[in-house]
Amino acid sequence: MVREDNDSRHGMWSSRLAFVLAATGSAVGLGNIWRFPYVTAESGGGAFVLIYLFCVVVVGLPIMLAEIIMGRRGRQSPINTLRLLTKESHASGWWTLIGWSGMLVGFMILSFYSVIAGWTLSYTTTYVEVIVTGAEGIGDPQAIFGSLLGNPWKLLGWHTLFMALTAAIVAMGVEKGLERSVRILMPLLFTLLLVLVGYGMTTGYFDDALVYLFKPDFSRITPAVLLDAMGQAFFSLSLGMAAIMAYGAYLPRNIPAGSTAMTIGLADSGVALVAGLAIFPIAIANDLTTGGGGVGFTFTTLPYAFNSMSFGQFFGLAFFGLLAVAAWTSAISLMEPPVAYLVERTRLSRFQAAIVVAIAVWLLGIGTVLSFNAWSDYKLFDRNFQENMEFIASNVLLPLGGLAIAIFAGWVLSKADTRDELHEMKAATYGIWRFLVRYVSPILVFLVFLSAIGVLNLNSESDLAMPAETESAATEETVMEDSAE
Ligand code: PHE
Repeated sequence: MVREDNDSRHGMWSSRLAFVLAATGSAVGLGNIWRFPYVTAESGGGAFVLIYLFCVVVVGLPIMLAEIIMGRRGRQSPINTLRLLTKESHASGWWTLIGWSGMLVGFMILSFYSVIAGWTLSYTTTYVEVIVTGAEGIGDPQAIFGSLLGNPWKLLGWHTLFMALTAAIVAMGVEKGLERSVRILMPLLFTLLLVLVGYGMTTGYFDDALVYLFKPDFSRITPAVLLDAMGQAFFSLSLGMAAIMAYGAYLPRNIPAGSTAMTIGLADSGVALVAGLAIFPIAIANDLTTGGGGVGFTFTTLPYAFNSMSFGQFFGLAFFGLLAVAAWTSAISLMEPPVAYLVERTRLSRFQAAIVVAIAVWLLGIGTVLSFNAWSDYKLFDRNFQENMEFIASNVLLPLGGLAIAIFAGWVLSKADTRDELHEMKAATYGIWRFLVRYVSPILVFLVFLSAIGVLNLNSESDLAMPAETESAATEETVMEDSAE
């Protein structure tokens, strides 16, 4: 069915560039600069990166395109978009669950995302302080990180500030808030990233980082690594929770969706790899896990390096500033779907809806705040509250959401409808996309789940916990051996 052009009631992106910046802003976040390096380090480097990139191309990009065109056809918040599309396709109302589950996962992710983003705000201000006072460095990074995590009030304070910053942008609306913020923040983000890679290249360990990231050691591939790589691909591309669907709802019809999705996917993986190339030389120069691995990887290992180099405080500021900016533009996209939904379903204004959502997420975030101190010993399946939220959201719910979206776009929407959305695509490219969403993505996601059932059930070594001593020692050896070759 050919759709006439219609505008979303929430507003519209003013150009292709605006959409690309906003969606890239959503995709590029803590996932690329905080999560990618630490998950890669825990899974042993090369093999993980390879599978990750495979997942991006074969599963991620087709699903991203599916989300964009579904959003654009529905023109509303994900839940109402699905409601409309199922009605038009005479399909079961159960499909709206995609929207509901997306909203739930969005809440979960944003709640821990905001706390971690709070760390980046705290480090950014610490580096500003160091620069202003002319101090040598930030002191002992391990102690600083420990005292931050050990103090729930500090964590809560930064979490509150970050939620307020996010809500403020969302409250201002699509054009004045979302679009205007990414137009300023994304160029800043790319500049900071270039500065850091430039620095990474001067450390002398750049080659080792290349080997570490790109030389696959296939003996390290386990079902857990497969699941991690797939979860990381979904998380990093912002897929499976309808965030990109919400952004697609504001995309004018005359903009080609296919090439646009490709640009966003490339930019996202590019940033992850480039961030890896900035971080791993520094990490390897400092024995990879100096200061510990796990979620604290970038917050302890890098500051050690910044302390010992000239102008380190400026690179520290650039790095944590970069993380904060990246986190901000992603958090905005996590908040947009529920806010749009409340605006559609209630009499709340966008401003009020943003406050309501921010408070709800803030409350849930307290669980994460306490995971690092008072509740750190409460574990389920060897994972604390925050680790469970992160694992369930990115490794379970996002891939499941993605699976459902692929099936919806491939089997429920008619060929005429998807072809109408992608009319600018060459027949062959469209054919490939449709084949990927109908068969390849669903089957792959399903197979990874099957292989990982053991991981989900067995109380096995948590892949999110800090690597055990022996494990990190082994990782170091691998790196050193590799680099010796
Ligand atoms: N893609 C973001 C990141 O890499 C996180 C995110 C996930 C944002 C899902 C929106 C939706 O940090």
